[in-house]
Amino acid sequence: MNHELLPVALEALEAARQALPRQSRRVIDTKSSATDPVTAADRALEQAIRATIATHRPTDIFVGEEYGTTGEPSATRWIVDPIDGTVNYSYSIPSYAISIAAEVDGSIDVGLVYDVGHGELFKAVRGQGATCNDVPIRVSQETDLAKALIATGFGYLPQNRRLQARVLGEMIDEIRDIRRFGAAAIDICWTAAGRVDGYFETGLKVWDWAAASLIASEAGATVTTDLPGIGDDPLTVVAGEGLFTTLRSRVSDLYQTLTSEPANDKAGR
Ligand code: IPD
Ligand code: CA
Ligand code: CA
Ligand code: CA
Repeated sequence: MNHELLPVALEALEAARQALPRQSRRVIDTKSSATDPVTAADRALEQAIRATIATHRPTDIFVGEEYGTTGEPSATRWIVDPIDGTVNYSYSIPSYAISIAAEVDGSIDVGLVYDVGHGELFKAVRGQGATCNDVPIRVSQETDLAKALIATGFGYLPQNRRLQARVLGEMIDEIRDIRRFGAAAIDICWTAAGRVDGYFETGLKVWDWAAASLIASEAGATVTTDLPGIGDDPLTVVAGEGLFTTLRSRVSDLYQTLTSEPANDKAGR
């Protein structure tokens, strides 16, 4: 796997890994709602990643969850979630990841998702496939929704979570089962590796999916991140080619139907 930005991304990941053990898992702040936590580690890891990338690429655009967008107009944009799965991290549940993507001229060319607890590095360079700890990965070939194990997640806004739970309530009889692991980047990478058959969630931000979406598409998945979801919150769907259309149609229909019911007028519309 070769790309001029890959070594920079790997160095930034290493800096973030070094910063992690020194940080407390205590929640020090909340953001969009009382259930949307921030720990010292979220901030320290983003600072470590920013500092490393700035050493090599001082004028690139940088988008991070904790410190927003910086840089000058530039062809290259780094998109970083320093810890995806902060709730898991704060409870010492070993499913949280560092996610680093490099986008060039609007196309994500390099994606790294490092699942700290499981010690797994998911990596992709555009056009060169995707790997987990350097072993090639491939999306599931399942085509039957009734046999599909589906991962999903909930955003932080209470009114949206209620609707997300209703969508699951409608789907649960139509699929094999649901998994909620607690980190969108890991959900998407596990879909890429065929550990689940598909994934959907509303309300993801670009840093949640940027790196993982390249990993998934390089592993043979179809990925969409901008379907209508709840209000302004888009719907993301990821699955192998044979399942994608069925899963996308069913989930889209449910969101359209349930968000248009009068009882949901207050639910994010
Ligand atoms: C969250 C996690 C979670 C998903 C939420 C995300 P964060 O990211 O990925 O699994 O359901 O939508 O916001 O806040 O832990 O980086
Ligand atoms: Ca995230
Ligand atoms: Ca995060
Ligand atoms: Ca967060």
